[in-house]
Amino acid sequence: MSDRPPLIVAVDRKDLARRAADEVVTRARAAIASRGVFHVALAGGSTPRELYATLAREERAHFARWHAWFGDERRVPPDDEKSNFRMATQTLLEPADIPEEHWHPIRVWEGEPEEAAQTYERELLMHLGPSPRFDLVLLGMGADGHVASIFPGSKALEEVEHDVVATFVEKLGAWRVTLTVRAINRSRAVIFLVAGTEKAAALHAVLEGPRDPARFPAQAISPESEDCLWLVDRAAASGLSGPQNRE
Ligand code: 6PG
Repeated sequence: MSDRPPLIVAVDRKDLARRAADEVVTRARAAIASRGVFHVALAGGSTPRELYATLAREERAHFARWHAWFGDERRVPPDDEKSNFRMATQTLLEPADIPEEHWHPIRVWEGEPEEAAQTYERELLMHLGPSPRFDLVLLGMGADGHVASIFPGSKALEEVEHDVVATFVEKLGAWRVTLTVRAINRSRAVIFLVAGTEKAAALHAVLEGPRDPARFPAQAISPESEDCLWLVDRAAASGLSGPQNRE
């Protein structure tokens, strides 16, 4: 990509979590100051665990004003160890005392994937209006450059009618429900959290390679607000050729 977005390279995962927590709280406080509420779409997977645990200890975050949404969900029960909702509940929602009526899981366990996507989109529209705009979307990135459950070649890349879709992920042989690129790019801010040497090749391709979002969906993410921050650790940044920190 030609104009590289702001990138902060943390020493390690602990430093990454600390820096990310500061960035999230800054955006939360700004949203609450101007609109009285903070709507955040949480990332799944494993990288955000440390961030959520660090955030839960934040005194300055005004958690009572947070609404916790999800960028995507796997088609598993809410108590399954693979569930993004379970991970976020254990590491952030409960420890931070975010009011339960402000938890917005993608209820993949309540019916067919398409129904769960439609239900979630209706809930988004009800809370955020006809063009739902998150204050912040947190994203991880897979070693193949996927974000949320938008995998290479996914229909969610081109979706123009819906903010949420159900998608069958061939490489996983599993259904997922995910926000679409359109929904993510409408947000006020996006923060990517990427850690580990296994992500280095994809990070180099996404940030420094030719533009090919069908192959590297992370390249499709470019919020209209232009507040898009990449927070990575040194291991993930090891494949980058350009200047390491660009704050
Ligand atoms: C998911 C996530 C997914 C994740 C990446 C990175 O449901 O798996 O939403 O997009 O962010 O796969 O996962 P790790 O943080 O575990 O490497």
